[in-house]
Amino acid sequence: AERAFVDALMAKMTLEEKLGQLNQPPGVGNHTGPEAMAGNEDQIRRGEIGSFFGTHGVELTCRLQKIAVEETRLGIPLIFAYDVIHGHRTLFPVPLGEAASFDVEEVRIAARHAAVEASAHGIHWVFAPVLDVSRDPRWGRIVEGAGEDPYLGAVLATARVQGFQGDDLAAPDTVLATAKHFVAYGAADGGRDYDTAEISERTLHEVYLPPFKAAVDAGVQSIMAAFNDVGGVPMHAHGGLINGLLRGQWGWDGVLVSDYTGIMELMPHGVAANRQEAGALGINAGVDIDLVSRIYYEDLPAAIADGRVSMEQIDEAVRRMLNAKYRSGLFDDPYRYCKDPAREAALTLNPEQREAARRLAQKSFVLLENDNATLPLSKSLPTLAVIGPLAEHRQAMLGNWAVAGRQEDVVTPLEGLQAALGEGTRLVVAAGTDIEGGDRSGFDEAIRAAQQADAVVMFLGEHPDMSAEAHNRTSLDLPGAQEDLALAIAATGKPVVVVLLNGRPLSIGALQGKVGAVLEAWFPGVEGGNAIADVLFGDVNPSGKLPVTFPRNVGQIPIFHSHRNTGRPPSEEEKYTSKYIDVPWTPLYPFGHGLSYTTFAYDAVQVASPRVSKDALQQQVSVRVTNTGQRAGEEVVQLYLRDDVASVTQPVRRLRGFQRVALQPGESRTVTFDLGFADMALLDAGLRKVVEPGTFTVFVGGSSTAELEARFEVVR
Ligand code: IFM
Repeated sequence: AERAFVDALMAKMTLEEKLGQLNQPPGVGNHTGPEAMAGNEDQIRRGEIGSFFGTHGVELTCRLQKIAVEETRLGIPLIFAYDVIHGHRTLFPVPLGEAASFDVEEVRIAARHAAVEASAHGIHWVFAPVLDVSRDPRWGRIVEGAGEDPYLGAVLATARVQGFQGDDLAAPDTVLATAKHFVAYGAADGGRDYDTAEISERTLHEVYLPPFKAAVDAGVQSIMAAFNDVGGVPMHAHGGLINGLLRGQWGWDGVLVSDYTGIMELMPHGVAANRQEAGALGINAGVDIDLVSRIYYEDLPAAIADGRVSMEQIDEAVRRMLNAKYRSGLFDDPYRYCKDPAREAALTLNPEQREAARRLAQKSFVLLENDNATLPLSKSLPTLAVIGPLAEHRQAMLGNWAVAGRQEDVVTPLEGLQAALGEGTRLVVAAGTDIEGGDRSGFDEAIRAAQQADAVVMFLGEHPDMSAEAHNRTSLDLPGAQEDLALAIAATGKPVVVVLLNGRPLSIGALQGKVGAVLEAWFPGVEGGNAIADVLFGDVNPSGKLPVTFPRNVGQIPIFHSHRNTGRPPSEEEKYTSKYIDVPWTPLYPFGHGLSYTTFAYDAVQVASPRVSKDALQQQVSVRVTNTGQRAGEEVVQLYLRDDVASVTQPVRRLRGFQRVALQPGESRTVTFDLGFADMALLDAGLRKVVEPGTFTVFVGGSSTAELEARFEVVR
């Protein structure tokens, strides 16, 4: 039916109308690139616009839709896209924080809530999830992805696509998801946004493509091209990866959008001499929709006339756009998401949405340090000092890419503490310093506040705009004078807890052994302040794990858990090995690390079959996990696999499974993992996916440094 409907419609369309469908301007005020043109109502009337991004709200989207439906020749409805990166109005933790939860179901639920809320605001299509694996915390957009690991990235990609799209795209509360940015955007040289991704084909396939493959397998309807080039070809002109791999080999039939002025940027990339060439390169590579540049609309007619672009190529792109509208149910009812202001109000920041945001924030927090059980704090402390420039920072709760977010929706850390403590505890508040400016004029006041208190909670970290698009750093240190402030407060001898609010790994080694506890809280969303109080006072036991390695200093980059061994693996004893002379080769905190207020012990690891046949690759690994402490808690049990000897060098270990388990004090549970072909496979020298005979070592535990191991052998 879709094919027949779209064919019939296309048969009536002029070239101009077709190119209009491929033109997507930004909503007014949504400009993040060098050149932007706000779509206007006359352009809609003339059929020049097929879709918008950055425009929302039932009133506005309905008004624009009415023009498209009632005042254009063919009445083709508009489709509205929006950057719903970690929630719409109800902001959840930034995606890197969500990933730290290792809670697949909660991440799916967050995307579901975002879809419900966004669709109630007139949005049909979200520019999320961000699937950029990144091993470079200098890169500002690391905050938007799931961290360094392709396996975790793929699992969460599936969850997010399912959350956004549900089972039925025509349902009243599902939206088209966009896997972005295709591909290797997180590998930008030097961590500089938009830069070349200088990676091997092997790394492309092993590390950067798997989350996109998972999204395609989950039925993602849209993919956005990345700004970078791969192997000398800008992704907006990469026919090999778009038409070849995505559409050809993977059989994906969705709509591919450019990123912002990505088509226009083929000129400064140096592969197109003018707009016409840029448009031809983009459309011929398989980029269907031109955001912002207006090159397809204005310059493709000439490219068609001189034979650079065929009408078949245009038709394919138009068909994909119309398919997306058809699948969204817009031809049945163009006003389906915009006709109900009551629904918009009821589904904005309602208690259920806030509760989900609070739950996911609680699970996203990673307890990095907790000397002498500094945490949890007692709720009956007579005086608590609250220090630091982020204690009352509303925007830091929202994080970056909170496009529809509002500061008034937020519970700040200070408000969260006040609500949890009531009147019984006196709070003494002092900023102490600013975030980036290095201002020390507030140090004395902050020290006095600490001296009066029974304990101190410090809120330190980054301004949310420091972890964002085009906001890359050459230092991972706490900005400004914050580290010095923390050390000065620690010198008072009071119990000090540092809560970090930031969007990338920070090299906070100087705090180790000086402050009592460090809780990584990322940018935690509208309910962040409440969630922080829940964890600080022990109503909730922290259970997040790092989705990305924390380096000791910026010079260790790249540093990640699934690196390959060299012929001279790092060793502190051996001189001529792969390491540094000034810092240990190990990270500050490894991938998967995260403490709890209780302790967990692992034993009895077993493989079901010591030998598995290459023709029947099934293995089951079990391990017993025991809560050996005094409190109930949740643990993320992680399984890593190493192919001990292979035809090509292999990572020292690769994450191949994880499960969250809740255990009461003294309780044990046996957790089992099923492994199959995909878990044991490697890419051989010809990049074919194969499982090679030989031994595999399994590691299980609570982080990527887990030592409990078992072995099995794959036999011919
Ligand atoms: O979706 C975004 C993308 O991630 C970065 N450039 C702008 C796009 C539209 O806002």
